[in-house]
Amino acid sequence: MLQNELEKGDSIILIAEQDELSACLGFVVFRRVGDDGEILQIAVDNSARRCGIGDKLMDAVISHMVENDLLSLFLEVRKSNLAAVNLYKKHGFINVRVRKDYYNDPVEDAIVMTRTNTKGANTRTKSC
Ligand SMILES: CC(C)(COP(=O)(O)OP(=O)(O)OC[C@H]1O[C@@H](n2cnc3c(N)ncnc32)[C@H](O)[C@@H]1OP(=O)(O)O)[C@@H](O)C(=O)NCCC(=O)NCCS
Repeated sequence: MLQNELEKGDSIILIAEQDELSACLGFVVFRRVGDDGEILQIAVDNSARRCGIGDKLMDAVISHMVENDLLSLFLEVRKSNLAAVNLYKKHGFINVRVRKDYYNDPVEDAIVMTRTNTKGANTRTKSC
């Protein structure tokens, strides 16, 4: 898997591809906010899920945090999004608070999660 890094405005997009000619399998978008980093979106194509791509994208964002001396990463996630919540917990994120009725369609609480920069605490990843 290759990862291309694109910069768009103040956001960084990492793209997961099988090879340079194939379609995007997944991506993560994040940005610097002061001394911290905010993960804005992460998604993996339905056909490629549960193969470790989400893990690799998270490892890449955490490496970016370490290399750029950011203090922490934070994000918001729908309370019911078990796949995403588990992914974040696996990568050291913890719940810090709940934002009541934060999302629309359907209305749902958001969990705010954060992961501090503990230098090099990346998890092991698997591949299909
Ligand atoms: C969340 C998402 C990015 C995970 O991507 P993925 O490539 O399938 O994840 P991986 O295969 O790397 O799995 C990594 C970990 O995520 C968690 N996970 C992933 N899919 C899961 C599922 N369906 N149910 C429970 N946990 C899951 C597990 O902890 C897993 O580790 P494990 O395999 O050791 O148990 C993917 O499900 C997705 O694109 N969802 C839709 C978009 C989305 O909801 N984004 C988050 C917005 S905040």
